[in-house]
Amino acid sequence: MKPKRIEQILSRYGYCTRRETRAWRRQGRLSLRDGSPIKNVSQKVSPQDLLIDEQPIEHLEGMFLILHKPLGYVCSHTAPVGENIYELLPELWMLRNPHPTTVGRLDKETSGLILVTDIGGIVHRWTSPRHRKPKVYEVTVDAPLRKNLIKRFAKGDILMEGEEKPCLPAELEFVEENKAILTIYEGRYHQVRRMFKHFNYEVVALHRSRIGDFELGDLQPGEFTALPLELADIAIEA
Ligand code: URA
Repeated sequence: MKPKRIEQILSRYGYCTRRETRAWRRQGRLSLRDGSPIKNVSQKVSPQDLLIDEQPIEHLEGMFLILHKPLGYVCSHTAPVGENIYELLPELWMLRNPHPTTVGRLDKETSGLILVTDIGGIVHRWTSPRHRKPKVYEVTVDAPLRKNLIKRFAKGDILMEGEEKPCLPAELEFVEENKAILTIYEGRYHQVRRMFKHFNYEVVALHRSRIGDFELGDLQPGEFTALPLELADIAIEA
């Protein structure tokens, strides 16, 4: 990565303000991998060479995470403590500038896979309708599913209430009388609940199990794992 001023690096990665950086240097908390001395906090160094309390900086080129969103959590930076998915991440990460944000959102009462990143290009790539990433949902509804729904979802003519354009064709697969797997290729507001509402069903449980090639695997609710940036499908600038 290109050399940057030490004070700038610490502020970008959420460690401390530019003003505090001077105190951190005096306290000996900052060092360089090769042992050379730090003359002042305006000195330019490569971020990968800087150690803080002898530890390298994590996710230097940005983070790309899979998070298993638990039920009852909200994907909002302003949601209160106790229901804000960002409190599931290390506090230091949330002080980064730019800070991590979700790629799209899941409702409070939806669980499952959500991507989190601090790289703007990823959000665009993974939410843009042009890129059409499949999103797979496990849906439970309040009444037995009617057979003709499979064809209706596949047709691509469901016009949800308040929308001008119909939904793209979607794949519906029945699992049980009231349960199905739905794959959609866009991400409109409350889309799954509204698509079923169109046919007078109430969604009583909703879980996202996959986006593109990403799955939750063994991740438990509230857990997250970092993905290699190469999988983000965008050009990463160092
Ligand atoms: N569709 C919904 O209705 N809710 C979600 O959280 C995601 C998709």
